[in-house]
Amino acid sequence: MHEVAAASFADKPAAYAELGNSLRALLAGESDLIACTANMAALIYACLPDINWAGFYLVEPATGDLLVGPFQGKPACVRIPIGRGVCGSAAASGSTLVVPDVHAFAGHIACDAASNSEIVVPVVTADRLIGVLDIDSPLFARFDQQDADGLEMLVSILLDAISEALHHDDLRSS
Ligand code: SME
Repeated sequence: MHEVAAASFADKPAAYAELGNSLRALLAGESDLIACTANMAALIYACLPDINWAGFYLVEPATGDLLVGPFQGKPACVRIPIGRGVCGSAAASGSTLVVPDVHAFAGHIACDAASNSEIVVPVVTADRLIGVLDIDSPLFARFDQQDADGLEMLVSILLDAISEALHHDDLRSS
């Protein structure tokens, strides 16, 4: 099985670069959306300090809603319409959303009472929203611009991995 080194996050850009190498190795040769997002969620949950939930909400083609996908952490809310909550807001804007205090975010959807801050990174190609990567922390202001940059880089590695399946339009969620 793939071994994951516990990176020190004292130097965040270096730690994310190391995580990127691990993710590339983990996803090599596989383009299935569920397989790739499942292992990516597990990698992030195992390696990022001070988080209590990491995973994906994936667009359900029939409704356009975000449906809970592969994740690690406590059971979460199942369906989030685009535009609702932190996840739906990031999906609607197509931009990463860093929320230092979820209790101050109007419309935040509370899944785990332990969560105090959150980051959501859209998983989007040039013309298609696939879903979002969502990470929660029990700390306030856990995520900063370096986390946003690092996690967007990890999402770009995911998009590279699933590009073959995207090209053939045979994602399992389609
Ligand atoms: N807090 C999110 C809902 C998902 S959970 O955090 C896992 C939101 O407001 O969209």
